[in-house]
Amino acid sequence: MPTIEEIEGLEILDSRGRPTVQATLTLTGAARARAQVPSGASTGGAEARELRDGDPSRYNGLGCRRAAENLSGEIRATAATRSFPDQAAFDRFLIDLDGTPDKRRLGANAILAASIAFARAHAVERNLPFYRHLADVAALPRPSTLPRPTINLFSGGKHAGGQVAIQDVLVVPIRATSTDEALAVVAAVYAAAADLSLRRYGSRALVADEGGLAPAFPSPEAMLDDATTAISLAGFAPGEDVALAVDVAASHFYEHGRYRIDDTLTPTAMIGRIGAWLDSYPIVSIEDGLAEEDWASWPLLRQRIGQRALVLGDDLLTTNPDRIRRAVAAEAATALLLKVNQIGTLTEAATALGLARSAGWSVTVSARSGETEDDWLADLAVGWGGDQIKVGSIARSERLAKYNRLLEIEAETGLPLAGWPRTGR
Ligand code: PGA
Ligand code: ZN
Repeated sequence: MPTIEEIEGLEILDSRGRPTVQATLTLTGAARARAQVPSGASTGGAEARELRDGDPSRYNGLGCRRAAENLSGEIRATAATRSFPDQAAFDRFLIDLDGTPDKRRLGANAILAASIAFARAHAVERNLPFYRHLADVAALPRPSTLPRPTINLFSGGKHAGGQVAIQDVLVVPIRATSTDEALAVVAAVYAAAADLSLRRYGSRALVADEGGLAPAFPSPEAMLDDATTAISLAGFAPGEDVALAVDVAASHFYEHGRYRIDDTLTPTAMIGRIGAWLDSYPIVSIEDGLAEEDWASWPLLRQRIGQRALVLGDDLLTTNPDRIRRAVAAEAATALLLKVNQIGTLTEAATALGLARSAGWSVTVSARSGETEDDWLADLAVGWGGDQIKVGSIARSERLAKYNRLLEIEAETGLPLAGWPRTGR
């Protein structure tokens, strides 16, 4: 049974140059592991709360020294020399010690760092690849597929200068049969899109928070047009070889019951607009097509597009078991975007995964816009049988660290890519 010897926290920096947290955890017997946690920009209102120092003279109040001190101080002092039979017991200990419903006292950032570092150290102790151990943590069988990458091409909204309201257009290599092939296909589309952006907008390949290109598109439709053209220019058939996914991130332009996308749209008109995108472009997934609080409209969106594309909930669900139960009951979505730091521990995220799977939903395991060079997300996506993985673009090393780990796991296991989920297309 793993016994904690030492836990140490450290404030480090994420890919946007903002502070985040790292935990290093040692078990008796010398198994030792470290974990770095990501942080979002387009966060859902129901997410667990990161602890930030709030000192305006340092990193604009975003410092994570207190969160790091909670790891080296209270969490270490209470956990050291204690044995925990499994991940659930350790995560329960963290949740109880914090004592708040949204982890704001010790910090969801500190708690997640501890949760993942414990899992990794336990995998070292068991002498198992991390993805195999993570499958055991969620009581899942040995992985039999690898997640299909969905890769950011163009960014707008909160991930870029906000030139266009929708946040991300992603490329989905639906025909690729391996990670290796998928990445080569997407790299070709990305290069074609960079050339096209230079020609159309005089915009060099400057990248947004997640490595996506961000020229000054005049409208969401121009963004979708260029993405479709880039697929063709790279030599692929749109919709057959390569499709598109859209993260609308609609919570971030929703005000007083209306969607301020360019015109101000009612929910019904917003659903109509999304339906029109599906008619014109090879779109297979719509994430957060509506706002996180617009519960009444989500079932209508699902009725309208659910046969043709995934209806994927990010801000709507925030990997929160209570919100997922509500969405399943309301038939509000067909797919879960799983971000462990939205809820704060591996155990709670595993519950979220189980609920989504029992409802027959597809699952995309996702990174955040603020990432680190840590690659645990790749192991998580494999171990938990994610249908898709969403890491951002095919640029910037905090993104590539995850793809590189997937390539390593692919070389080691030879597992095939998961098929695209059946949506009735
Ligand atoms: P975030 O956004 O990491 O900035 O919150 C990612 C997403 O909306 O999927
Ligand atoms: Zn999102």
